Amino acid sequence: MARRASVLAAVAVVAATVVLVLRGLAAQPAAPAATSPGKALYATHCGVCHGESGLGDGASAASFPSKPSNLTDGRRFNQLPEDFFVNVVLNGGPAEGLSPGMPPFRGNLNEEQVRQIVAYLRTLAEPPFSEDDPRPIVTIAGAPRQPIFFSHLIHAGSYRIDCQYCHSDARRSPTAGVPSVEKCMGCHKIIGAQDNPEIRKIHQYWEKREPIPWVRVFKIPEFTYFPHKPHVQAGLPCQGCHGDIQQMRVVGARTGPSLVNDLQNLIGLRPASRPLTMGWCVDCHREQNATGRQAPLDCVACHH
Ligand code: HEC
Ligand code: HEC
Ligand code: HEC
Ligand code: HEC
Ligand code: HEC
Ligand code: HEC
Repeated sequence: MARRASVLAAVAVVAATVVLVLRGLAAQPAAPAATSPGKALYATHCGVCHGESGLGDGASAASFPSKPSNLTDGRRFNQLPEDFFVNVVLNGGPAEGLSPGMPPFRGNLNEEQVRQIVAYLRTLAEPPFSEDDPRPIVTIAGAPRQPIFFSHLIHAGSYRIDCQYCHSDARRSPTAGVPSVEKCMGCHKIIGAQDNPEIRKIHQYWEKREPIPWVRVFKIPEFTYFPHKPHVQAGLPCQGCHGDIQQMRVVGARTGPSLVNDLQNLIGLRPASRPLTMGWCVDCHREQNATGRQAPLDCVACHH
């Protein structure tokens, strides 16, 4: 017994030393990738599917309908925040709406180890990864639960599909519009159709010929009128009014009256108006008019 305990203790000391040495290496940015702890973890846990060099060509890759991603594709991954990787790896593909072909590693890897793997993958990125690339995921309290877990972070962030490809009415009509089931099917007849349950739901709506009942997020009252066309044609970015949608897994809005604003107003401070309130519309119209634009301030323009 005593001998076994001392062997264990010796192993622990060796292991601790190895961890310290590896940490020391990780702390030096110039350390060659060959010795990074992330590389070893990657080889043990990920290579079988994502391939030895991250290209998505591991030994088991062929058996998955949704193929293991090419994790070295910088165009797609450089702007994805670390928290996205941590969530996918610890909790599996479905935690971000992806297929269950990507298994959860919680129990086998801890968060620190996943961050080491991500740091290693960042060294493989082509085009190269730069520290300023990813912006954090935007999570807004109270965002509604949608009938399908549709992620703007994946579509507009990672794959960089243009906002107006899907919201194509924005430049030519009052409403921006949400894409038809047919438009989703244009890509998803094939992509994810075999093994992603979220994408199978699109097929079910398509077969029933029913629209997807998306829950509305941004809304002003019935007695007001907001047209997208003049705003989009004036070159105002969508994000200026809606926030960093391409960083949202689930779209939500920080809008409407707020007690904090009311109290600040009451004591004479003048906080910026909350989005989608009348003060917000009028403040921007005044600012824009100071630069020579003609945004209306008369009541009937917004209240028909
Ligand atoms: C059993 C096979 C398998 C293993 C092992 C595996 N993956 Fe995956 N992984 C997949 C598949 C399949 C997908 C594609 C899911 C999809 O596109 O719906 C995926 C997707 C991902 C994604 C999401 C990428 C994207 O396209 O947005 C990340 C990140 C990822 N894997 C990282 C890892 C890491 C890191 C490891 C090791 C800790 C790992 N995977 C191990 C199969 C695997
Ligand atoms: C221009 C092509 C394209 C269009 C249009 C498109 N998607 Fe996707 N979608 C993709 C790609 C590419 C992926 C990533 C697949 C993967 O990695 O497994 C994806 C992933 C998904 C996923 C899984 C990840 C996530 O977002 O949760 C869902 C669900 C999804 N799409 C739903 C939709 C719906 C609903 C529509 C229509 C409103 C739509 N898509 C339109 C290309 C498209
Ligand atoms: C692949 C198609 C697709 C792309 C690309 C896309 N969207 Fe969306 N968008 C949707 C779908 C589907 C919904 C409804 C589900 C939801 O709210 O997430 C939506 C919802 C929204 C909403 C909330 C609508 C409401 O109910 O108030 C806003 C705002 C929005 N998108 C803006 C954008 C912006 C800005 C971009 C570009 C950065 C963008 N979208 C890119 C498909 C897309
Ligand atoms: C000047 C501010 C502003 C800009 C710029 C703007 N929006 Fe909106 N958007 C709004 C407001 C306000 C609403 C709510 C309108 C209502 O309730 O009638 C809205 C609603 C929406 C909706 C849901 C209702 C609908 O119209 O279908 C979507 C989707 C949307 N916007 C997408 C976009 C996209 C995509 C862009 C960029 C191409 C964009 N918006 C640019 C202010 C803006
Ligand atoms: C980020 C700045 C901004 C915000 C916020 C904004 N607007 Fe505007 N709005 C403009 C500009 C700029 C124009 C003038 C565009 C042009 O030059 O034709 C305009 C024009 C308009 C017009 C006149 C359209 C036409 O056909 O001439 C209406 C109506 C309007 N806005 C309503 C609203 C309402 C309602 C809100 C709030 C829910 C709002 N706007 C918020 C910048 C803004
Ligand atoms: C640029 C667009 C715009 C103009 C100009 C505008 N409003 Fe509004 N108004 C709104 C919007 C959007 C709302 C709904 C959001 C809110 O309640 O703040 C609103 C709300 C209101 C409300 C309801 C407020 C409440 O607390 O329920 C009243 C009353 C009102 N407006 C009166 C006016 C009058 C009077 C004028 C002219 C002096 C005017 N508005 C000009 C956009 C506008």
